Amino acid sequence: MPHRPRKIIIDTDPGQDDAFAILLALASPEDVEVLGITAVAGNVPLKWTSRNARIICELAGKPHVKVFAGCDAPLKRKLVTAEHVHGKTGLDGPVMPEPKMALQAGHAVDFIIDTLRSEPAGTVTLCPLGPLTNIATAFQRAPDIIPRIEQIVLMGGGYFEGGNITPVAEFNIYVDPEAADIVFRAGVPLVVMPLDVTHKAMTNRKRLEAFRNLGTNVGRVAAEWADFFERFDLAKYGMEGAPLHDPCVIAYLIKPELFTGRHINVEIEVQSELTMGMTVADWWGVTDRAANALFMGSIDTEGFFALLTERLGRL
Ligand code: BDR
Ligand code: CA
Repeated sequence: MPHRPRKIIIDTDPGQDDAFAILLALASPEDVEVLGITAVAGNVPLKWTSRNARIICELAGKPHVKVFAGCDAPLKRKLVTAEHVHGKTGLDGPVMPEPKMALQAGHAVDFIIDTLRSEPAGTVTLCPLGPLTNIATAFQRAPDIIPRIEQIVLMGGGYFEGGNITPVAEFNIYVDPEAADIVFRAGVPLVVMPLDVTHKAMTNRKRLEAFRNLGTNVGRVAAEWADFFERFDLAKYGMEGAPLHDPCVIAYLIKPELFTGRHINVEIEVQSELTMGMTVADWWGVTDRAANALFMGSIDTEGFFALLTERLGRL
């Protein structure tokens, strides 16, 4: 059994669904201790993601959480963003106050490196919720930290579900495939929450009502974020609600039994323009490539929303 609370760094590009993940973590101190939040460019540019992370901490009533700004562009490519999903700020929907808390001095990558060097080996888990640029940069600059990581639990990729930014690529992996390739090859115990799972973590009227019925500011804002976020999926997939991708990562740390998957080989396409950023997942074990990831396939959706609602109700 992993020690409790598990020490985590949340690496993120908020994003309404990232916001749910951060709120879930900050509401669950008996399960996870958030050592810091590192922002990366992804859904929107870094200027917004580093601001949004602080808005979310303040909404949670946790202005003392350390938030760092990280990489503003992928390792080798021009940044691709997703304003069409998340709005101009990345956190469109309810009007939120500008954050009062300051960004920490120093770069997110240095924070990741320093934390992994200073904490006992095997006690820090990384939770990437956006493109893997910060994590891969840390690995390139300080390979000594790699064996010190307890686990990486990330949102990214898709197999049965295909992609959401190209027919075969999921956004987080597509934006920085070279970074994803570095992370997937690093030899760190990896848990992956692909679209196969997160497209089952869908809001609906009843689930949004449950957020609203909390009767709190957090419950109202959460419902309004999900409302905003669902326009895209409604138009694109005809889905009834919004997929809450990123909180699946934190839910796994709290209640791993909500998810099932397979320990398989997953490699990242970095050559072909047609399939760039695809997570080539050997779900059926048709190669002899060594397993490097626990690739999730299903989720107890009711259990997930019950957990999320209960925890949001604490804030
Ligand atoms: C992922 O991309 C972002 O738009 C979401 O925040 C999530 O991390 C889903 O493909
Ligand atoms: Ca995200």
